[in-house]
Formats: sequence, C-alpha cells, structure tokens
Amino acid sequence: MTRIVLFENIHPSAREVFTAAGFTDIATHAGALSGDELIQAVQGANVLGIRSRTQLTDEVLATMPDLRCVGCFCIGTNQVDLESALMRGVPVFNAPYSNTRSVAELVLAQAILLLRRIPELNVRVHEGFWDKSAEGSYEARGKTLGIIGYGNIGSQVGTLAEAVGMRVIFHDIEAKLPLGNAKATSSLKNLLSNADVVTLHVPGGEGTKNLINREAMLAMKPGAILINASRGTVVDIDALHDALKSGHLAGAALDVFPTEPKGRDEPLDSPLRGMPNVVLTPHIGGSTQESQENIGSEVAEKLVNFLKSGASKGSVNFPEVSAREVVGTARILYVHKNLPGAMGSLSGLLAERGLNIVSQRLQTRGQIGYAITDVDGQVDGAVLEALRAHPMAVRCELITF
Ligand code: NAI
Repeated sequence: MTRIVLFENIHPSAREVFTAAGFTDIATHAGALSGDELIQAVQGANVLGIRSRTQLTDEVLATMPDLRCVGCFCIGTNQVDLESALMRGVPVFNAPYSNTRSVAELVLAQAILLLRRIPELNVRVHEGFWDKSAEGSYEARGKTLGIIGYGNIGSQVGTLAEAVGMRVIFHDIEAKLPLGNAKATSSLKNLLSNADVVTLHVPGGEGTKNLINREAMLAMKPGAILINASRGTVVDIDALHDALKSGHLAGAALDVFPTEPKGRDEPLDSPLRGMPNVVLTPHIGGSTQESQENIGSEVAEKLVNFLKSGASKGSVNFPEVSAREVVGTARILYVHKNLPGAMGSLSGLLAERGLNIVSQRLQTRGQIGYAITDVDGQVDGAVLEALRAHPMAVRCELITF
C-alpha cells in the first residue's frame, strides 16, 4: 500500500484527489517538523507532501529508501535538496501556475484603485477629511496598460484589463502570441512612454535587476502608475520614491520588495512606507483560498499521475517523460545512471527473461536517465530484483495493468 505523508496544512483538495485515485493511507501533520521529529514522521512514506517550511535535506532523504516522489504544494522548491532527490530517483513536483489568476485580479484592482486615487482618499476619510473632488481621478476605460513580461500572469492581466475597456500593450524579450487585442511594443522605452499604468510580470534574477531604474521611470508618462507584483529586485526603490515625491508618477502598488521581512512581527524597511499614494501588500499576490485549493489538486494530480503511469512531466528536478497509453501488460520505471550501456543492460535483462519490449521512452538529465518501458508478459519479483541489483540501476519500480 502506498503511504502518503502530508505536512503544513495542505489544502483538503489534495486528499480528495488521492482518495479518488484509490490512495487512502494518508497521514497529515498540521505544521512543519524538523530534525529527528521530521525524520521520524517520514519513515515508511512513499509520497511526501510539503509546503515551503519543511526542509527536505540530503540527510532527511537518505533515511527514506522507499520514497517515490515529493510534492511541494507551493511555487518554490528550494526547501528540497533537488539534486539529492534526483540522485535517489525521486521526482519533485510543484504548482507553478495555480495562483496566476489571483495575481492578475489583484493587479487589475490596484490599477483601478490608483487611477481613482482611492488609497489616498481612503486615508483622508479615516483621518476625518471629506475631500469630495474629481481631481486626478480617472476611469480605467480607454487607458493604456503596459505589461512588461507577457508570460502566464502578464497575459492573464491583459485579458482582464481588456474586459474593463483598457488598451493593452506589452513588452517581452521573447516573441509572444498576443491575446485579445493586446499589441507588442517595439521596445521597453516605447511601452514606458505610452502606458498610463505599467505592470511588471518578469522573473527575478540578474537579467531583470533594476529593470525599472531612474531612467526607465523618467521615460514613463507624467502621472503614470507603476505596479510590481513580480519580484522586488526589478524596481529601484529609491528612484521610485523620488519619482513619487516629485509627482512625476501618480501612484504605485508594490507586493514584493528587494528585502522582505522574515516574519509577521518584522516591519518592512522601505522609504515608501507612509506614502498615501502607494499601496504596500505583504507578498500576497498569489495568496487566496482558490489558489491554495488549486495548488492542492494540481500537485496531488501530478503525484497520482506519476504513481499510476510513471509520468514525470512537470517535475522540477527529474528527466521529464510523459506517459502515453499503456501498450503492454506491465510497465517498468527504470531510473539509471546516465552512462553508456545503461539501456543495454535493461534490454538484456528483459530479453534473458523472455520479456518483449513493446514501447519505450527515455529522457536524461545530468547524471540520471529515466526510461518508461512497456513489456508484454509476466514481470515477477525476480526480474525486478535483477534489475535493481544491476550496477547501472538507481531505482526500479513496476506498474501492472
Ligand atoms: P512566466 O515565466 O510565465 O513569465 C515571465 C515572462 O517574462 C516571460 O514571458 C519572459 O519571457 C519574460 N521576461 C523575462 N525577462 C524579461 C525582460 N527582461 N523583459 C521583458 N520580459 C521578460 O512567469 P509568471 O508565472 O507569469 O510569473 C511572473 C512573475 O510573477 C515572477 O517573477 C513570479 O515570481 C512572480 N509571482 C509573484 C507572485 C506574488 O505573490 N506576488 C505569485 C506568483 C508569481
């Protein structure tokens, strides 16, 4: 029986997927464990589900010879020693796109609120002032939204923005198929000088560090709005502070920061704190009940798919093989060293036992190769033992149909 151990209050949608697929041995832990407590809790597990706080180090993974796959029920996977998992033949899955819609909705909401100066007016009414005026307030309809990074989130933002009548332009370093009436601009500068609202949806890292610097802000239209729900390093915060102070930019919404507080009691260190035309949120762009539910089912489905078919497509650390229709009576999942002769050893061992290969797919990644082989005939325990004992083998599993 496959034993599943879940940590960190993973959404119940995951359990629903597992039980519907016939996996009912599920242990849950509300929090994240560490050290000996974690090692004790994971013993005997074939499948592990964690979120961002459980550290799956090489030391922990080494105590789990029966572990078949890991699900990170979140976006990031740096809490897992991915290389160690790979070398042990364990694929790791995550949910990179489950919160796309949540981020897109927040961005559109911020754009509309800032165009109407609602953050400032809200503060004023709370303070006892009644500034009834249309000064500096605009409809979103007919305004131009400039999207930098037209990937999963950026393109979704564009679709939502068109629904409220915005004109959508975008800039991406790759050629992208425009959705709806969105149009690619000839350059970043062109986008900056034409957009009433600029929103950032690029990855973090060196390639996008301070992409929106002082010069880029000067290229923006006077009175424009800047929204960043991508990565904090993309915007030069001091330059943004100056652009807002001088009135060149009318407002900003930031969900991410170059340095973010580690816990709830640590304040954000930023010159933007206290500015009434700046909306600051604690990196919650993707944090909604719906995204948690989506993450639960998306990752559980990937794990179930792997357990039932061997498909590793979507794994973050493993050679990606998608499982096609079954054409034999048994399927052998063979994780091996990526060296000459590894596949020959598999074919040789199967031929010796009179097993005919009817379909085979292979993919390699670094030092590891992964082959899904469908065979006709009875694969008994002795065949499996022989495959596992081979010096090229890292791991070998059997699925029968
Ligand atoms: P994605 O990978 O689907 O799209 C990123 C796009 O940016 C790609 O089309 C890529 O070609 C483009 N790009 C890369 N470098 C560029 C550059 N220098 N100039 C213009 N375009 C460039 O990523 P996805 O899923 O849309 O995520 C976008 C960002 O949102 C990421 O930084 C991600 O970490 C962040 N994010 C933030 C969340 C939050 O809670 N605030 C939640 C989820 C994601």
